[in-house]
Amino acid sequence: MLQDTISVKITKTTNSHIGDVDWDNLPFGRVFSDHMLVMDYSDGEWHQPEIIPFANLSLHPATSAIHYGQSIFEGMKANKAENGDVSIFRPAMNANRFKESCERMCMPTIPEDVFTELVRKTVEIDSNWIPNKEGYSLYIRPFMFATDEFLGIRPSETYKFVIFTCPVGAYYSEPVNVKIEEFYTRASVGGVGRAKTAGNYGAGLYPAKLGQNQGFHQLVWTDGKEHKYIEESGTMNIVFIINGTIITPSEDTDTILRGVTKRSVIEIAKSWGIPVEERKVSVEEVVAAIKNGTMQEAFGAGTAATIAPIAKIGYRDEILELPPVDTFVISTKIKNYLDDLKAGKVEDTFGWCLKV
Ligand code: COI
Repeated sequence: MLQDTISVKITKTTNSHIGDVDWDNLPFGRVFSDHMLVMDYSDGEWHQPEIIPFANLSLHPATSAIHYGQSIFEGMKANKAENGDVSIFRPAMNANRFKESCERMCMPTIPEDVFTELVRKTVEIDSNWIPNKEGYSLYIRPFMFATDEFLGIRPSETYKFVIFTCPVGAYYSEPVNVKIEEFYTRASVGGVGRAKTAGNYGAGLYPAKLGQNQGFHQLVWTDGKEHKYIEESGTMNIVFIINGTIITPSEDTDTILRGVTKRSVIEIAKSWGIPVEERKVSVEEVVAAIKNGTMQEAFGAGTAATIAPIAKIGYRDEILELPPVDTFVISTKIKNYLDDLKAGKVEDTFGWCLKV
Protein backbone atom coordinates (compact mmCIF):
# COMPACT_ATOMS: atom_id res chain seq x y z
CA MET A 1 0.00 0.00 0.00
CA LEU A 2 2.61 2.54 1.14
CA GLN A 3 4.92 1.82 -1.79
CA ASP A 4 2.05 2.84 -4.12
CA THR A 5 1.26 6.02 -2.23
CA ILE A 6 4.80 7.35 -1.88
CA SER A 7 3.47 10.43 -3.62
CA VAL A 8 2.99 12.90 -0.83
CA LYS A 9 -0.03 15.16 -0.68
CA ILE A 10 1.24 18.68 -0.10
CA THR A 11 -0.58 21.64 1.43
CA LYS A 12 1.71 24.63 1.60
CA THR A 13 1.48 27.24 4.32
CA THR A 14 0.04 30.61 3.36
CA ASN A 15 1.66 32.17 6.38
CA SER A 16 5.41 31.46 6.44
CA HIS A 17 7.14 32.70 9.58
CA ILE A 18 10.64 32.48 8.12
CA GLY A 19 10.87 36.27 8.25
CA ASP A 20 10.61 36.16 12.07
CA VAL A 21 13.72 34.01 12.53
CA ASP A 22 16.77 35.51 14.19
CA TRP A 23 19.38 33.65 12.12
CA ASP A 24 22.21 34.85 14.36
CA ASN A 25 20.59 33.30 17.40
CA LEU A 26 19.42 29.76 16.77
CA PRO A 27 19.29 27.80 20.02
CA PHE A 28 19.06 24.07 19.38
CA GLY A 29 15.51 22.82 18.89
CA ARG A 30 13.48 25.96 19.52
CA VAL A 31 12.84 27.25 16.01
CA PHE A 32 10.66 25.16 13.70
CA SER A 33 10.30 25.33 9.93
CA ASP A 34 7.03 25.97 8.12
CA HIS A 35 5.91 22.42 7.33
CA MET A 36 5.76 18.90 8.71
CA LEU A 37 5.00 15.51 7.28
CA VAL A 38 2.35 13.31 8.90
CA MET A 39 1.38 9.76 8.10
CA ASP A 40 -1.07 7.56 10.00
CA TYR A 41 -1.16 3.83 10.50
CA SER A 42 -4.36 1.88 11.06
CA ASP A 43 -6.04 -1.32 9.89
CA GLY A 44 -2.61 -2.89 9.40
CA GLU A 45 -1.26 -0.35 6.91
CA TRP A 46 0.28 3.06 6.47
CA HIS A 47 -1.91 5.66 4.77
CA GLN A 48 -1.23 8.55 2.43
CA PRO A 49 1.61 10.74 3.77
CA GLU A 50 0.88 14.45 3.80
CA ILE A 51 2.99 17.55 4.16
CA ILE A 52 1.01 20.24 5.94
CA PRO A 53 1.75 23.55 7.64
CA PHE A 54 3.58 23.03 10.96
CA ALA A 55 0.94 22.89 13.68
CA ASN A 56 0.07 21.36 17.05
CA LEU A 57 -1.14 17.78 17.18
CA SER A 58 -4.42 17.10 18.90
CA LEU A 59 -4.34 14.06 21.19
CA HIS A 60 -6.92 12.06 23.12
CA PRO A 61 -5.99 11.94 26.84
CA ALA A 62 -5.80 8.13 26.64
CA THR A 63 -3.34 8.18 23.71
CA SER A 64 -1.37 5.07 24.52
CA ALA A 65 2.14 6.45 23.84
CA ILE A 66 1.66 8.94 26.66
CA HIS A 67 0.89 6.17 29.12
CA TYR A 68 2.99 3.24 27.99
CA GLY A 69 5.82 4.75 26.03
CA GLN A 70 5.60 3.35 22.51
CA SER A 71 7.44 6.35 21.11
CA ILE A 72 10.60 6.41 19.00
CA PHE A 73 12.51 9.05 17.09
CA GLU A 74 15.49 9.83 14.90
CA GLY A 75 17.74 12.81 14.29
CA MET A 76 19.66 13.77 11.18
CA LYS A 77 20.84 16.93 9.44
CA ALA A 78 20.58 18.63 6.06
CA ASN A 79 23.03 21.23 4.80
CA LYS A 80 23.34 23.63 1.91
CA ALA A 81 26.53 23.91 -0.13
CA GLU A 82 27.85 27.26 -1.34
CA ASN A 83 26.41 26.53 -4.79
CA GLY A 84 22.96 26.00 -3.24
CA ASP A 85 22.94 22.18 -3.44
CA VAL A 86 21.06 20.64 -0.53
CA SER A 87 22.03 17.27 0.93
CA ILE A 88 21.09 15.08 3.87
CA PHE A 89 23.81 13.24 5.77
CA ARG A 90 23.45 9.43 5.70
CA PRO A 91 19.65 9.19 6.04
CA ALA A 92 19.72 5.50 5.07
CA MET A 93 21.50 4.73 8.34
CA ASN A 94 18.78 6.50 10.30
CA ALA A 95 16.14 4.67 8.29
CA ASN A 96 17.71 1.39 9.30
CA ARG A 97 18.04 2.36 12.96
CA PHE A 98 14.42 3.57 12.95
CA LYS A 99 13.33 0.20 11.64
CA GLU A 100 15.23 -1.54 14.45
CA SER A 101 13.61 0.76 17.01
CA CYS A 102 10.17 -0.04 15.53
CA GLU A 103 10.81 -3.75 15.84
CA ARG A 104 12.06 -3.56 19.43
CA MET A 105 9.12 -1.39 20.48
CA CYS A 106 6.46 -3.53 18.73
CA MET A 107 5.64 -0.76 16.27
CA PRO A 108 4.95 -1.12 12.54
CA THR A 109 8.02 -0.57 10.38
CA ILE A 110 8.32 1.82 7.46
CA PRO A 111 10.29 0.49 4.46
CA GLU A 112 13.72 2.09 4.66
CA ASP A 113 13.60 3.58 1.17
CA VAL A 114 10.19 5.08 1.93
CA PHE A 115 11.45 6.57 5.21
CA THR A 116 14.38 8.15 3.36
CA GLU A 117 12.16 9.53 0.61
CA LEU A 118 9.74 11.04 3.13
CA VAL A 119 12.66 12.71 4.90
CA ARG A 120 13.94 14.02 1.56
CA LYS A 121 10.55 15.49 0.66
CA THR A 122 10.20 17.16 4.06
CA VAL A 123 13.60 18.80 3.66
CA GLU A 124 12.86 19.79 0.07
CA ILE A 125 9.77 21.76 0.97
CA ASP A 126 11.57 23.81 3.63
CA SER A 127 15.01 23.94 2.03
CA ASN A 128 14.94 27.74 2.36
CA TRP A 129 15.12 27.13 6.14
CA ILE A 130 18.61 25.62 5.92
CA PRO A 131 20.96 28.14 7.55
CA ASN A 132 23.75 29.48 5.35
CA LYS A 133 26.26 29.59 8.14
CA GLU A 134 29.21 27.42 9.05
CA GLY A 135 28.37 25.03 11.88
CA TYR A 136 24.62 25.44 11.30
CA SER A 137 22.23 22.90 9.76
CA LEU A 138 18.62 21.94 9.34
CA TYR A 139 17.99 19.32 12.02
CA ILE A 140 15.44 16.69 10.97
CA ARG A 141 13.31 14.98 13.58
CA PRO A 142 11.23 11.99 12.42
CA PHE A 143 9.22 10.32 15.18
CA MET A 144 6.48 7.78 15.64
CA PHE A 145 4.12 7.18 18.52
CA ALA A 146 1.22 4.94 19.44
CA THR A 147 -2.19 6.59 19.10
CA ASP A 148 -4.72 4.02 20.31
CA GLU A 149 -7.21 5.68 22.64
CA PHE A 150 -7.14 2.82 25.07
CA LEU A 151 -5.82 2.13 28.57
CA GLY A 152 -5.08 -1.57 28.18
CA ILE A 153 -1.47 -2.60 27.95
CA ARG A 154 -0.72 -4.12 24.56
CA PRO A 155 0.92 -2.85 21.38
CA SER A 156 -1.20 -0.10 19.90
CA GLU A 157 -3.04 -0.81 16.66
CA THR A 158 -2.70 2.77 15.40
CA TYR A 159 0.33 5.07 15.08
CA LYS A 160 1.32 8.49 13.86
CA PHE A 161 4.58 9.15 12.04
CA VAL A 162 5.71 12.77 11.84
CA ILE A 163 8.76 14.57 10.47
CA PHE A 164 9.54 18.19 11.25
CA THR A 165 12.69 20.24 10.84
CA CYS A 166 14.49 22.95 12.80
CA PRO A 167 17.31 25.27 11.75
CA VAL A 168 19.95 24.76 14.44
CA GLY A 169 23.36 25.81 15.62
CA ALA A 170 25.68 23.74 17.76
CA TYR A 171 24.15 21.65 20.55
CA TYR A 172 27.21 22.35 22.72
CA SER A 173 28.84 25.72 22.35
CA GLU A 174 31.87 24.80 24.49
CA PRO A 175 33.96 21.71 25.32
CA VAL A 176 31.95 19.40 27.54
CA ASN A 177 32.56 18.09 31.03
CA VAL A 178 31.18 14.62 31.64
CA LYS A 179 30.86 12.41 34.71
CA ILE A 180 31.30 8.66 34.78
CA GLU A 181 28.06 7.31 36.26
CA GLU A 182 28.52 4.27 38.47
CA PHE A 183 25.15 3.97 40.16
CA TYR A 184 22.31 4.82 37.79
CA THR A 185 21.85 2.75 34.66
CA ARG A 186 20.82 3.77 31.14
CA ALA A 187 20.38 0.29 29.72
CA SER A 188 20.81 -3.32 30.64
CA VAL A 189 21.26 -6.42 28.53
CA GLY A 190 17.87 -7.45 27.17
CA GLY A 191 16.47 -3.93 27.61
CA VAL A 192 15.81 -1.17 25.08
CA GLY A 193 19.17 0.63 25.10
CA ARG A 194 19.76 0.01 21.40
CA ALA A 195 16.41 1.54 20.45
CA LYS A 196 16.04 5.29 20.06
CA THR A 197 12.98 5.34 22.24
CA ALA A 198 11.73 8.26 24.30
CA GLY A 199 11.85 6.42 27.64
CA ASN A 200 15.63 6.00 27.45
CA TYR A 201 15.95 9.77 27.52
CA GLY A 202 13.28 10.28 30.19
CA ALA A 203 14.95 7.75 32.47
CA GLY A 204 18.29 9.53 32.09
CA LEU A 205 17.02 12.94 33.15
CA TYR A 206 17.24 12.49 36.92
CA PRO A 207 20.80 11.11 37.03
CA ALA A 208 21.84 13.72 34.45
CA LYS A 209 20.35 16.45 36.64
CA LEU A 210 22.38 15.22 39.61
CA GLY A 211 25.49 15.42 37.40
CA GLN A 212 24.53 18.88 36.18
CA ASN A 213 24.17 20.04 39.78
CA GLN A 214 27.84 19.07 40.16
CA GLY A 215 28.81 21.12 37.09
CA PHE A 216 28.84 18.39 34.42
CA HIS A 217 27.10 18.78 31.06
CA GLN A 218 26.43 15.07 30.68
CA LEU A 219 26.99 11.64 32.15
CA VAL A 220 29.03 8.83 30.71
CA TRP A 221 26.90 5.74 31.17
CA THR A 222 28.55 2.50 32.22
CA ASP A 223 27.23 -1.05 31.81
CA GLY A 224 24.21 -1.83 33.94
CA LYS A 225 25.62 -4.97 35.52
CA GLU A 226 29.00 -4.01 36.95
CA HIS A 227 29.44 -0.33 36.04
CA LYS A 228 32.92 -1.31 34.84
CA TYR A 229 32.65 -0.59 31.14
CA ILE A 230 31.95 2.67 29.32
CA GLU A 231 28.85 2.67 27.10
CA GLU A 232 27.80 6.09 25.78
CA SER A 233 26.97 9.59 26.92
CA GLY A 234 23.47 11.00 27.31
CA THR A 235 23.36 12.89 24.02
CA MET A 236 26.13 11.24 22.02
CA ASN A 237 28.42 8.24 21.64
CA ILE A 238 31.86 8.48 23.15
CA VAL A 239 35.28 8.10 21.57
CA PHE A 240 38.80 8.16 23.05
CA ILE A 241 42.19 8.52 21.43
CA ILE A 242 44.83 6.71 23.45
CA ASN A 243 48.39 6.46 22.15
CA GLY A 244 47.27 7.36 18.63
CA THR A 245 44.53 4.69 18.50
CA ILE A 246 40.84 5.52 18.32
CA ILE A 247 39.10 3.44 20.97
CA THR A 248 35.35 3.32 21.37
CA PRO A 249 32.84 0.95 22.98
CA SER A 250 31.73 -1.75 20.58
CA GLU A 251 28.09 -1.60 19.48
CA ASP A 252 28.02 -5.37 19.56
CA THR A 253 25.51 -5.27 22.42
CA ASP A 254 21.87 -4.31 22.83
CA THR A 255 22.71 -1.60 25.36
CA ILE A 256 24.30 1.04 23.11
CA LEU A 257 22.64 3.20 20.48
CA ARG A 258 24.24 2.74 17.07
CA GLY A 259 25.61 6.17 16.25
CA VAL A 260 25.68 7.51 12.70
CA THR A 261 28.28 10.16 13.51
CA LYS A 262 30.40 7.68 15.45
CA ARG A 263 30.26 5.19 12.59
CA SER A 264 31.33 7.97 10.21
CA VAL A 265 34.25 8.91 12.48
CA ILE A 266 35.39 5.29 12.47
CA GLU A 267 35.10 4.94 8.70
CA ILE A 268 36.95 8.21 8.05
CA ALA A 269 39.70 7.34 10.53
CA LYS A 270 40.20 3.90 9.01
CA SER A 271 40.38 5.38 5.51
CA TRP A 272 43.15 7.68 6.76
CA GLY A 273 45.08 4.75 8.22
CA ILE A 274 44.37 5.67 11.86
CA PRO A 275 44.08 2.53 13.98
CA VAL A 276 40.60 1.99 15.42
CA GLU A 277 39.54 -0.44 18.13
CA GLU A 278 35.85 -1.08 18.74
CA ARG A 279 35.71 -3.17 21.87
CA LYS A 280 34.83 -3.11 25.53
CA VAL A 281 36.40 -0.04 27.10
CA SER A 282 36.83 -0.22 30.85
CA VAL A 283 36.51 2.75 33.17
CA GLU A 284 39.80 1.65 34.71
CA GLU A 285 41.57 1.89 31.36
CA VAL A 286 40.20 5.35 30.63
CA VAL A 287 41.09 6.68 34.07
CA ALA A 288 44.60 5.16 33.88
CA ALA A 289 45.18 6.62 30.40
CA ILE A 290 44.25 10.11 31.58
CA LYS A 291 46.48 9.78 34.63
CA ASN A 292 49.50 8.36 32.79
CA GLY A 293 49.24 10.89 29.95
CA THR A 294 48.46 8.45 27.12
CA MET A 295 44.90 9.78 26.67
CA GLN A 296 45.34 12.33 23.90
CA GLU A 297 41.74 13.21 23.04
CA ALA A 298 38.21 12.33 24.09
CA PHE A 299 35.05 13.44 22.38
CA GLY A 300 31.37 12.83 21.96
CA ALA A 301 29.96 12.00 18.53
CA GLY A 302 26.32 12.62 17.70
CA THR A 303 24.06 14.19 15.11
CA ALA A 304 23.10 17.08 17.36
CA ALA A 305 26.42 17.26 19.21
CA THR A 306 28.52 16.66 16.05
CA ILE A 307 32.07 16.18 17.39
CA ALA A 308 32.04 17.56 20.93
CA PRO A 309 35.48 17.68 22.56
CA ILE A 310 35.60 16.64 26.22
CA ALA A 311 37.55 18.85 28.60
CA LYS A 312 37.07 17.07 31.93
CA ILE A 313 35.85 13.72 33.14
CA GLY A 314 34.48 13.37 36.66
CA TYR A 315 35.28 10.04 38.27
CA ARG A 316 34.18 9.41 41.87
CA ASP A 317 35.67 12.35 43.81
CA GLU A 318 38.18 13.28 41.17
CA ILE A 319 38.05 15.66 38.24
CA LEU A 320 40.33 14.30 35.54
CA GLU A 321 41.58 16.95 33.12
CA LEU A 322 42.13 15.98 29.51
CA PRO A 323 44.86 17.63 27.45
CA PRO A 324 43.86 21.12 26.25
CA VAL A 325 41.22 20.90 23.51
CA ASP A 326 43.43 22.90 21.13
CA THR A 327 45.81 19.91 21.08
CA PHE A 328 43.03 17.58 19.77
CA VAL A 329 44.55 17.11 16.32
CA ILE A 330 42.74 13.99 15.09
CA SER A 331 39.20 14.79 16.23
CA THR A 332 39.52 18.35 14.93
CA LYS A 333 40.69 17.06 11.56
CA ILE A 334 37.77 14.59 11.43
CA LYS A 335 35.28 17.27 12.49
CA ASN A 336 36.55 19.68 9.83
CA TYR A 337 36.38 16.95 7.21
CA LEU A 338 32.80 16.09 8.18
CA ASP A 339 31.81 19.78 8.13
CA ASP A 340 33.39 20.20 4.69
CA LEU A 341 31.71 17.05 3.39
CA LYS A 342 28.29 18.23 4.55
CA ALA A 343 28.91 21.70 3.13
CA GLY A 344 29.91 20.20 -0.24
CA LYS A 345 33.45 21.58 0.04
CA VAL A 346 35.11 18.19 -0.47
CA GLU A 347 34.19 15.40 -2.80
CA ASP A 348 31.75 12.90 -1.25
CA THR A 349 33.97 9.88 -1.85
CA PHE A 350 32.02 7.78 0.67
CA GLY A 351 28.69 8.51 -1.04
CA TRP A 352 27.15 9.62 2.26
CA CYS A 353 25.31 12.78 1.22
CA LEU A 354 21.85 12.30 -0.29
CA LYS A 355 21.09 15.10 -2.74
CA VAL A 356 17.68 16.64 -2.18
C1 COI B 1 20.60 13.53 18.03
O1 COI B 1 21.80 13.76 18.12
O2 COI B 1 20.00 13.60 16.95
C2 COI B 1 19.81 13.17 19.21
O3 COI B 1 18.77 12.62 19.07
C3 COI B 1 20.31 13.53 20.54
C4 COI B 1 19.48 14.55 21.23
C5 COI B 1 20.24 15.01 22.39
C6 COI B 1 19.13 15.74 20.41
